[in-house]
Amino acid sequence: MSGIAIEARNVVKSYRLGEVVIPALRDVSLSVASGSFTAVMGPSGSGKSTLLHVLGLVDVPDAGDVLVAGRSTSALDDDALTVLRRDTIGFVFQTFELIEALSARENVLLPAEVAGRVDAGRERLAHLAERLGIAERLDHRPGQLSGGQRQRVALARALVNDPVVILADEPTGNLDSATGRDVLDVLRAGVDEEGWTVLMVTHDPVAAMRADHVVFLRDGTLAGSVSGRADDVREVIARFAGV
Ligand SMILES: Nc1ncnc2c1ncn2[C@@H]1O[C@H](COP(=O)(O)OP(=O)(O)OP(=O)(O)O)[C@@H](O)[C@H]1O
Ligand SMILES: [Mg+2]
Repeated sequence: MSGIAIEARNVVKSYRLGEVVIPALRDVSLSVASGSFTAVMGPSGSGKSTLLHVLGLVDVPDAGDVLVAGRSTSALDDDALTVLRRDTIGFVFQTFELIEALSARENVLLPAEVAGRVDAGRERLAHLAERLGIAERLDHRPGQLSGGQRQRVALARALVNDPVVILADEPTGNLDSATGRDVLDVLRAGVDEEGWTVLMVTHDPVAAMRADHVVFLRDGTLAGSVSGRADDVREVIARFAGV
């Protein structure tokens, strides 16, 4: 697949808390190329999670458009957005968000079941389990897995319906640094070898270094971006400090 996987065009999003309007995104435009690995950095409250929620069709922007595989979503109703989200977006969270009562296998297959594609999901699961190193753990419950294994299961779940893009919010935020590095290795290899498209929010310059592009948010606006993999973590930190 080539071209643009997902795109935000002039996205504006505010939250209302009673009388108070909190601007979270002010006119953000961003294109994520298919088969690329992009990191989103920025201070707390700068709008990173909001951007992921809007791109992931969980939150509807107040203005602007989100295009998934070139398709505008601004005119879609809730049902159409739900179907498109299910079929094209894979989410990964800092806290894994696995269902404790289900085995790893059942967790991974759940989105395939919801989409009515269990057979395709099972085939994909076999491949993903090998790639992600969880083949021996599929009958375990999340509570019987390490943090790194849980995040790999969550990643398999995000990938089971062959999404256009994986949106990951601090996927290494709850992992120790060595385990976090393993998850980043898996993401990097998936992009390089399987053509995954990853957009990852992170506070960690070491994590951002693994991406092809780093975009910086500040106060709900795109404050800068760097393309080409950083050779040096200091480069990312310096760039981050400068915006
Ligand atoms: N559901 C909500 N209701 C009200 N305000 C919200 C909501 N979600 C986010 N906000 C506000 O929108 C702004 C952007 O929040 P967002 O969660 O996108 O930031 P973030 O960059 O992900 O921060 P962090 O690094 O702390 O996760 C903040 O001012 C936040 O308080
Ligand atoms: Mg956040």
